[in-house]
Amino acid sequence: MSRVAYVNGRYVPHDHARVSIDDRGYQFADGVYEVCEVFHGALVDEARHMERLTRSLAELRIASPLSAGAMRIVLREVVERNKVSNGYVYLQVTRGVAPREHTFPQGQVAPSLVVTAHAVDPAKSASVAEKGVAVVTMPDIRWRRVDIKTISLLPNVLARQEAKEKGAYEAWLLDSDGMITEGAASNAWIVDRSGTIVTRFLDHSILRGITRTTLIDIIRSLGLALEERKFSRAEALSAGEAFITGATTLVTPVVVLDDQPIGDGRPGPVTRKLRALYHDVAARTK
Ligand code: PDD
Repeated sequence: MSRVAYVNGRYVPHDHARVSIDDRGYQFADGVYEVCEVFHGALVDEARHMERLTRSLAELRIASPLSAGAMRIVLREVVERNKVSNGYVYLQVTRGVAPREHTFPQGQVAPSLVVTAHAVDPAKSASVAEKGVAVVTMPDIRWRRVDIKTISLLPNVLARQEAKEKGAYEAWLLDSDGMITEGAASNAWIVDRSGTIVTRFLDHSILRGITRTTLIDIIRSLGLALEERKFSRAEALSAGEAFITGATTLVTPVVVLDDQPIGDGRPGPVTRKLRALYHDVAARTK
């Protein structure tokens, strides 16, 4: 099947989708993005993704490329045209096309919008979750505003590559005090030996994961103990369970950290329960 991308007002064959070499996304990584899961043809937590997009755009003073209503239509159109039933929709907004100058373009430059959709085999991600994944720690070398979901992801790319070369699935990034911030493309969580679920609080040092937000709703509704605070690598190594969350990983157990098993080295009951409940609770909009 031929794939279709949306590029600045047009639906075009994916292989022919093009942006200008003067696009500020290409020149400066001057843009933001969102990744929204598609589950049984519905967008998962779309409203929260759109709220975060609005916030990221405002933080960088990039104009919104479309009204909220038009964006909803484009996202659905791309999902449908690509016949994606399970997978994700990716959208990227940049500050637009202008001669290469670091300062913002003069005058009215329209932001660029690209939307693509990708199918994912749910059986594959289920089998990854069934086994659990390995994670390795490394220094967090990113800038100090990673709460903005910018397309500037070079440190994340390097971290994921290093993790892959070490046989791990994800990197957990360590701040200058040796505390875990988050994963290169996911939020980081542990469950301590008393069953308390721990994840770092929201500030400028982590992304406000949408999966994280929805999972906190689930944890609270179950009455489980939750602490939003920093945790160290040592604490993670002595935890009963650990997991990562994200639009593409959902809730995925972490069973090995820096070559050492977490808990009994298998996905734990709290993690499994949260993963099982996730799609029942997350908002799904067609
Ligand atoms: N990444 N932290 C980082 C650094 C991320 O890149 C992501 C998501 C998350 C989880 O956020 P959410 O739950 O909203 O997906 C946390 C996406 C999936 C990506 O870059 O592909």
